[in-house]
Amino acid sequence: MAEQEFVSVNEVGLRDGLQNQSVQVPIEGKLRLARALADAGLRSMEATSFVSPRAVPQMADAAELFPALPRPDEIDYSALIPNRKGYERALEAGVRSVAVVLAATDTMNRKNINMSLAETRRVCADVVARAKRDGVHSRAYVAVAFECPYEGRVSAQRTTELTEEMFGAGADEVIIADTIGAANPSASFDRFSGLAERFDPERLCAHFHDTRALALANAWAALHAGIRRFDSSIGGLGGCPFAPGAAGNVATEDLVLMLGMCGFRTGIDVPGLRRAVEVASELVGRELGGRMTAWLRSQDRRDGSGKGDAG
Ligand code: COA
Ligand code: ZN
Repeated sequence: MAEQEFVSVNEVGLRDGLQNQSVQVPIEGKLRLARALADAGLRSMEATSFVSPRAVPQMADAAELFPALPRPDEIDYSALIPNRKGYERALEAGVRSVAVVLAATDTMNRKNINMSLAETRRVCADVVARAKRDGVHSRAYVAVAFECPYEGRVSAQRTTELTEEMFGAGADEVIIADTIGAANPSASFDRFSGLAERFDPERLCAHFHDTRALALANAWAALHAGIRRFDSSIGGLGGCPFAPGAAGNVATEDLVLMLGMCGFRTGIDVPGLRRAVEVASELVGRELGGRMTAWLRSQDRRDGSGKGDAG
């Protein structure tokens, strides 16, 4: 049998998921979740963000959390940073992999980080260039890459231009983020095909939210366009109950199960993810789980492993 192709899954639940929760999860809880994810085989996680504690109180513990994360030698932990101050704070906390956020529209940057598009471009390029000099791995989000909640549709040309700019500045990887879950499989295929033709697909990552129940289909389309890196969130964690329109990311367990069923290797095991979903549910005080939850539960009952037929 031919060797299975590897797909890299980066867990973003600890940051993208928890930043939106109305409950403040204590550090101990975050570490328990990180341990459960590590036990399930995840080797890449965006663990937190070094942002203003006033803007996002849920991430105020970043400097304390980061050095306490489990198995730092085995796991590639990254942290999101919005500006130069975030970069400094992250480095002080021992971060060696940062993610900058460049939203594709002016209004989104202003709402998110209080900077114009032009200013955000400059700051992101500057931070990424510094990271390169410092030997720090850098990922650059192109956020609202398909559609912005304030300015509407974002053109492929704009997404490509910003991607080019981030690679040009020295980014190791660019994350194309459907921040509000507005993409569809056809648009996903087209956009990622175009990007994969122009840039090294190994350095592109797809980040989908499930607002319209299309995140998994969008991931499948991106996979067909040659993308082999995905962000996902355990249990589909994320989304704010007070802000309809911003659902959580594609659930890690759904993505991993789909990839396994289709013959891709991720190194992540589904029973371990089921245990991590339980931990995450406990932490936020409500039941989480992706679209395959009911089926996975039926497998738990059948053989007690939750392994199903896809590992
Ligand atoms: N971490 C912690 N504090 C920060 C910071 C950072 N990265 N950047 C700025 N601050 C502090 C400043 O020191 C200042 O503190 P002070 O009032 O005690 O002096 C205060 O925040 C205001 O600084 P300013 O530069 O005027 O920032 P701002 O009010 O324009 O806010 C951001 C800009 C980027 C700090 C803020 O909008 C933010 O943190 N956004 C993150 C949003 C987010 O996480 N979105 C989801 C992920 S994409
Ligand atoms: Zn996101």
